[in-house]
Amino acid sequence: MSVSDIDLIQAWKQVLTLSMLERGQIVTVLTGADTHPQTLRCAIAAASDMGARVNRLDLPPVNAEKSLSRDSLAYLGTTPLTGNPAAIAALKASDLVLDLMTLLFSPEQHDILSSGTKILLAVEPPEVLCRLVPTEADRARVLAAAQRIEAAHEFRVTSKAGTDLRCRIGEFPAISEYGFVDQPGRWDHWPSGFVLTWPDEGHSQGQVVLDRGDILLPLKDYVTDPITLTIENGYVRRIQGGLQADILKEYMAAYEDPEAYAVSHIGWGLQPRAHWSMLAHYNKETHIGMDARAFEGNFLWSMGPNNEAGGSRTTACHIDIPMRHCTVTLDGEATVIDGVVQDASGLARAQRRPEGL
Ligand SMILES: [Fe+2]
Repeated sequence: MSVSDIDLIQAWKQVLTLSMLERGQIVTVLTGADTHPQTLRCAIAAASDMGARVNRLDLPPVNAEKSLSRDSLAYLGTTPLTGNPAAIAALKASDLVLDLMTLLFSPEQHDILSSGTKILLAVEPPEVLCRLVPTEADRARVLAAAQRIEAAHEFRVTSKAGTDLRCRIGEFPAISEYGFVDQPGRWDHWPSGFVLTWPDEGHSQGQVVLDRGDILLPLKDYVTDPITLTIENGYVRRIQGGLQADILKEYMAAYEDPEAYAVSHIGWGLQPRAHWSMLAHYNKETHIGMDARAFEGNFLWSMGPNNEAGGSRTTACHIDIPMRHCTVTLDGEATVIDGVVQDASGLARAQRRPEGL
């Protein structure tokens, strides 16, 4: 469904207002070869109308010869900012960077944030942005979940399909992704709406059984036959299953990096306007799968780096795996039961769902 410029400008204004953009501040829009022209046009219009000084910094893409995918998250680490102090200086001198290119998981992003500059990533299609405009309520819900993670020592996930994963937590912070940047030096991603942390280094044990309908990213495939991943001392040691397991193994092996198999972030989705079924409608190359990462009640875990959390692991490979129908407990207390978030809005939403549908 196409979106009018005026609707997308209004959406940007809501996000920029929540991000406390003030008249006279400097906004730099970071763009690349895959930036959506309507998103760019409307971002500039909204920020300008709110009185900001707006720049555009366009950088050529990198990594094409190394990546097996067109997805912007398929090869991490080096970005068009790597070894580019002139571009970094421009971004550091900005109050707010609207990242329509994808800087995620790069040391340059940390460098820019440490100067107090805010960065908001927004690369999903315009209609997805409009459907998933963040709210204060999203923020409050995600922050409440993050507080529960911060207070806990064990993160456990189980499912009827056979998952039983235990992770010790506390070494790394809880991260709240709610879709806007209301603090200096904050990074966020529009759209989102989920909470996450990272297991203590080497302290994840158990198995994850991916069931039909669970999702592999950046492959953007629904799992059709179960895949069993065996996890020992923080690393996935075996991946067993049928054709999809073989594809996943071959894809990950292509990076030739044992760190690719480390358990990375763990958390759950809290965004009721994100939908598990979205992937069924879209061409893989038109989006990066944020509905899958954020849909309410998922268990989202991943393999790959932990440098986003302050850890030392960098690897170019990153696999995100949103799962349905899982139960998440923190120190034995359930935050999600069989895919239903155990807070007031999660329980109310589950009650509204028609029986049998
Ligand atoms: Fe991830």
